[in-house]
Amino acid sequence: MVKVAPSILSADFSNLYEEVKKVEDAGADLLHIDVMDGHFVPNITIGPPVISSLRKRSSLPFDVHLMIKDPERYVEDFIKAGANILTVHVESTVHINRLIQTIKEKGALPAVALNPGTPLSTLDYILEDVYMVLIMTVNPGFGGQSFINGMLDKIRELKSKIVSRNLNVLIEVDGGINEKTARQVIEAGADILVAGSAIYNSPDPALVISRLKNLPPT
Ligand code: DX5
Ligand code: ZN
Repeated sequence: MVKVAPSILSADFSNLYEEVKKVEDAGADLLHIDVMDGHFVPNITIGPPVISSLRKRSSLPFDVHLMIKDPERYVEDFIKAGANILTVHVESTVHINRLIQTIKEKGALPAVALNPGTPLSTLDYILEDVYMVLIMTVNPGFGGQSFINGMLDKIRELKSKIVSRNLNVLIEVDGGINEKTARQVIEAGADILVAGSAIYNSPDPALVISRLKNLPPT
């Protein structure tokens, strides 16, 4: 069954613990935490101190999505703060192979993210080294954007590369996920759905999460 990772980017930050507890109680499998630096993306969000505070009060796996320049400067801090999966963008560093090894050595599961315009060929020589690939289905920076339909082919192609190379790499999708697009990305091969606004803007997050997990095939 597909897993659901609510993104706290759409949460009420003045009430963050309650917002995390809400999705934890509602059946979230992972907590997706978006870290933005105002350079790699135009928005600024949170850093390690907030993550380590939440770590003490949540037992969910933390799926930390770094949208920052020069991520090698900070990966250790984010792992110490409590990241279980640490995702770095291939566009954000010139030494992605070394960064993946560092994340493993420091004790987290390494994942790589691709912006919508970045080709899958950037993964050719690192695919067997990662736990997960995050396919961005919007341009990163903000919640509540519309899903980019062209990314369905990208997910399908990635899935077929993983299968043909006999790997166990998971595919996560992030951006514009709702019931309609979830069904499409699951059919294309997604294993983990990130959803921010669809969950946090709903009066019934548990219902949204359970529907996303149990979508009938089209
Ligand atoms: C966008 C972030 C996403 C965002 C998704 O840059 O990486 O995780 O929170 O938000 P929705 O689900 O509202 O598109
Ligand atoms: Zn994200």
